[in-house]
Amino acid sequence: KLKKQQLYYEVNKLAGRFFYNNLVQRKNPALEYILKRGLTTRTIKSFGLGYALNNWDDLLNHLKKEGYKEEEIEKCGLIIKNKQKDGYYNRFRNRIMFPIFDIRGNVIGFGGRVLDDSLPKYLNSPETAYFNKSETLYGLNIARKNCENGQVVLVEGYMDVIALHQQGFKNVVATLGTSLTKGHGLLLKKYFDQIILCFDGDSAGTKATLRSLELLQNVHKNIKIILLPKGVDPDDFIKKEGKNAFQRKINEAVSAIDYKIYLAQQKYSLNTMEDQINLGKEIASIIKEIDSPIEQEAYIKKIEEKTGISKDAITREVYGRKPATD
Ligand code: GTP
Ligand code: MN
Ligand code: MN
Ligand code: MN
Ligand code: MN
Repeated sequence: KLKKQQLYYEVNKLAGRFFYNNLVQRKNPALEYILKRGLTTRTIKSFGLGYALNNWDDLLNHLKKEGYKEEEIEKCGLIIKNKQKDGYYNRFRNRIMFPIFDIRGNVIGFGGRVLDDSLPKYLNSPETAYFNKSETLYGLNIARKNCENGQVVLVEGYMDVIALHQQGFKNVVATLGTSLTKGHGLLLKKYFDQIILCFDGDSAGTKATLRSLELLQNVHKNIKIILLPKGVDPDDFIKKEGKNAFQRKINEAVSAIDYKIYLAQQKYSLNTMEDQINLGKEIASIIKEIDSPIEQEAYIKKIEEKTGISKDAITREVYGRKPATD
């Protein structure tokens, strides 16, 4: 068992090295693409980025030459058995390769991105006994050693982690394109005191934020949310606005309740009385979720200022017909 695991790490590490050499040793479209997106050679090295050439068996032959059997390489997720005829072929072809590390720095899989806009945009290694996507966070091996004040920023994509890291934010992790799981939540809890959610500024990002809040609420108390402009992800944002602007985003990250109130406000135009009523009711139901009465009251005050709905009305909406008294 242990030997199998060791082999899995070894083969994936060799593959990572192979992809890396493809990327850096000579001029090629992947390197051009990566540099054009603003990554430096230093970043390429830190993350061990690579290039899977547009080739059916170069990696396969390389690993065979290193002494590994086809069946072994297949179990590592790097080659696929040919259905029609005998033999195997490379799983990853013509893709930029992102090695995925476990907490100890073993390569446990890869994400591979196309160089253009063909689909699927990303292809990941298959799950195995040693590669479980729902318990792996991209960047965790780096972030856990680089989180001053216990903060971690959770983003959606590989490129977000890397772009933020290049600008000095090394406490960033991403799921592997899947939604957040309980396992991820426990990992975050284990290594960090505060989670800052920073998903893409689109409807998928909003949905993912709400889903993650729900999942994390019982696991992790200290969660904040960064709102990005429409259509912008963390990589786009930092490239356009710079690192100081992103630091400001971190400093201004809002609570889950503020985030939900903000979304409610976006939903209504407030031109009609009906809108105003519905907004008031929706906000009241958000405030109902808060456990602490002191916190509730603080939010109610804030909402009076923001919406003009009276404190008294919100309070009564939250507690039912009568205001709470003791
Ligand atoms: P870039 O387009 O290179 O900037 O990547 P991105 O990270 O911004 O991509 P996007 O926001 O579309 O997706 C976020 C993350 O979801 C990616 O980093 C991947 O991990 C994952 N993902 C996106 N598209 C696919 C896909 O087609 N297949 C799989 N398996 N994962 C994907
Ligand atoms: Mn996508
Ligand atoms: Mn997205
Ligand atoms: Mn994105
Ligand atoms: Mn992106």
